[in-house]
Amino acid sequence: MSRFPTDLPSPCFVLEQAALRRNLAVLARVQREAGVKIILALKGFAMHAAFPEVRRVLPGCTASSPYELRLAHEEFGGEVHAYAPVYPERDFPAYARHCTHLTFNSLAQCDRFRDRAPGVSLGLRVNPQYSPVETDLYNPCVPGSRLGIRAELLGDRLPPGVEGLHVHNLCESAADATARTLLAIEEHFGRFLPALRWLNLGGGHLMTRAGYDLDGLIAALRTFRQRHPHLDIILEPGSAVAWDTGVLVATVEDVVESGGIHTAILDASFATHMPDCLEMPYRPNVEGAWEPDGRGWECRLGGCSCLAGDFVAGYAFAQPLRPGDRVVFRDMMHYTMVKTNTFNGIPLPAIGILGEDGGFQLVQTPDYHRDYRNRLS
Ligand SMILES: Cc1ncc(COP(=O)(O)O)c(C=O)c1O
Repeated sequence: MSRFPTDLPSPCFVLEQAALRRNLAVLARVQREAGVKIILALKGFAMHAAFPEVRRVLPGCTASSPYELRLAHEEFGGEVHAYAPVYPERDFPAYARHCTHLTFNSLAQCDRFRDRAPGVSLGLRVNPQYSPVETDLYNPCVPGSRLGIRAELLGDRLPPGVEGLHVHNLCESAADATARTLLAIEEHFGRFLPALRWLNLGGGHLMTRAGYDLDGLIAALRTFRQRHPHLDIILEPGSAVAWDTGVLVATVEDVVESGGIHTAILDASFATHMPDCLEMPYRPNVEGAWEPDGRGWECRLGGCSCLAGDFVAGYAFAQPLRPGDRVVFRDMMHYTMVKTNTFNGIPLPAIGILGEDGGFQLVQTPDYHRDYRNRLS
């Protein structure tokens, strides 16, 4: 029997409260045992209906754009950190008003704005020249990267007023990558650490993934803190907060066959509802399906947009899919909801929460005027 109500709208993102609580318990342990602060990176997960739950454990958010800044300030509260590759002149006053911590991506931006954010703790994003990320699209340390200042540009002294350094070089990474990052920071920026107040280690620490070496992460952070006891250490994951905390439920509307290949066409779309699947690309896990191995019924799952590439291949099911069947995509909370769009005029999915007690709460439904018409003129 499905754990979702039979009248669930389709498509629908469903956050599973029990899974979110499990992740938050892990983050609470890391904060407690490593003596660090963990804040939520809104770019990865910004479902504000869940903020009351998240806020019980995490003291704030990090924003990278004007809308994230506003969401952090108005909906989450607590500490508001900001880092953006650039602060346009028109946006800076809002950052200065609402941030507790603000990180510049270049010395020029720091020079331009540092006297215009009184009471805000200022930092610089630096490039540690180490990243374990093999996909260039997600690697902030690729040669020529526009993200972060390289050590040789800094000379011997940081600009006046700078109290922190920010590093982001990981993506779905393991604990040993954080340990190596800490060594790279000491190697390239160690001369600045004694005079600073905080160090932000960015996101990409996937501490809620099964098998992640939590003890290793905690040990690396504690050892680093022993060497630099005056520093506040901040981590700002997005993925780790929402990892495997919910699904996208869709419905099969048709099954077509072409040259021996079956495609189950859904009322959802990879291009509009799960664009990271095409961007990365990756094959999302589907409940009750497996990678073709000669058993079962093989198919592609196809989106409802007209984009030829709006499908993901490589699924096998025990029975052929039929119109009306539900397809449940797993792990659809981080970097999925935040990237949805209405290309092709396709409505956004509804959003709901499956409570720990099994109760379901619908928190958002698509709206033609708000989501589509009014954005276009
Ligand atoms: C500056 C910064 N901080 C934090 C994050 C969050 O990373 P993740 O969701 O992988 O933990 C990102 C992701 O791109 C980022 O660019």
